[in-house]
Amino acid sequence: MPGPERIEVTFNSGARTRCVIESGALERLPELCAEVGLSGTAGFLCDARLVFAQGPLVKALGDRFGGVLARPVSEKHKSLAEVEAMCETLNARGVMRDGFVVALGGGVLTDLAGLAAALHLRGVPWVSGPTTLLAQVDAGLGGKTGANLRAGKNLVGAFHQPTLVVCDPRVLKTLPERERWSGLAEVVKCALLAPQQDALGEALLTRCERDLEAAARGDEAALSGLIFGAVKLKATVVSGDEREGDGPLAPGQLPRAALNLGHTVGHALETATHYERFTHGEAVALGLRSAIELSRLRGHVHDSDAARMQTLVRRLQVLAPNKLTPLEREAALVAMQKDKKARAGQVRFVLLNSSGGVVVERVEAADCGRALDAALD
Ligand SMILES: NC(=O)c1ccc[n+]([C@@H]2O[C@H](COP(=O)([O-])OP(=O)(O)OC[C@H]3O[C@@H](n4cnc5c(N)ncnc54)[C@H](O)[C@@H]3O)[C@@H](O)[C@H]2O)c1
Ligand SMILES: [Zn+2]
Repeated sequence: MPGPERIEVTFNSGARTRCVIESGALERLPELCAEVGLSGTAGFLCDARLVFAQGPLVKALGDRFGGVLARPVSEKHKSLAEVEAMCETLNARGVMRDGFVVALGGGVLTDLAGLAAALHLRGVPWVSGPTTLLAQVDAGLGGKTGANLRAGKNLVGAFHQPTLVVCDPRVLKTLPERERWSGLAEVVKCALLAPQQDALGEALLTRCERDLEAAARGDEAALSGLIFGAVKLKATVVSGDEREGDGPLAPGQLPRAALNLGHTVGHALETATHYERFTHGEAVALGLRSAIELSRLRGHVHDSDAARMQTLVRRLQVLAPNKLTPLEREAALVAMQKDKKARAGQVRFVLLNSSGGVVVERVEAADCGRALDAALD
């Protein structure tokens, strides 16, 4: 019987993903693969930085999987050229249809390796071992794989559900604390959404209020609980809306678009500062302030609920200076108008609702300015 640290997800397409959340689980990765029926030749694609940061783990897994295909990946080189290079290494390694891909690394590596798995021999199963908190709570589950084009981030990709996702809080010890804070912003996003989804309630919200700083320090028990809650929320959302809007939603089911909470302003801040000043999580943390304030201003959220949420969100550490120059502010407003989901000058915001669910609303330019100021005050 799966223990409480296992989450089994079945998608409308029939695909199934098992998520294991447990300290030390990556050390047992080959056994966990066998348990889900993966036993052929493995192509073990690994973020090259982990060869140093997690040397003993990478070596042990390399011995078991017949070698390590270390890839020096980064957001700047999250390209189709890298996916092609990965496919060449999978071919050279002799990964056939009965084989599988194992991806170990941050979200950049797992997105690229997942896409390589989708393309290699027109698709082989894959296993995701996310090693940043952001990747564990966000990129691991849900089947979105991808690469960047010159025109923008994640403009090419495929849905390819991993058979297994293994989230091991122990590997997060070697992450810089700022990266853990970045992942915690996505956890807090899930905590704000969980009470909006029937049957999940506010356990994750209270856990965040209790354990946020301990998790940022790398405390494994605190991290395990938060990762479990966030993955549970994401599992519930993506299993009910696998490809974002491809069918009717069950009553009480959050749309996949709800996961964009805080991201309208977050993406605008990243664009306006050329992806150099804020980590993704820092931009999302600031974007969550905007989303809560807009939800309150538009009467969707009671003042007392908004105050509780803002108190939690403001505990998320943003190490980057959050003042924008007038030029950057203008660039952020323009970026919001150009958001892929904006239409006719109206920007789409995911807002919370005290009576449950989320509201996706189009927001005029003037309110976009207020939203931005709420993020930065
Ligand atoms: N597929 C999805 O649904 C989804 C969701 C969210 C984000 N993403 C993608 O994820 C990417 C961001 O992921 P990220 O934040 O993990 O960034 P990342 O992959 O760049 O990792 C951040 C840094 O940490 C290093 N690192 C990874 N694990 C480590 C460890 N255990 N110890 C020390 N260093 C470690 C990496 O080498 C890198 O330098 C973006 O490209 C984004 O588009 C995808
Ligand atoms: Zn995000």
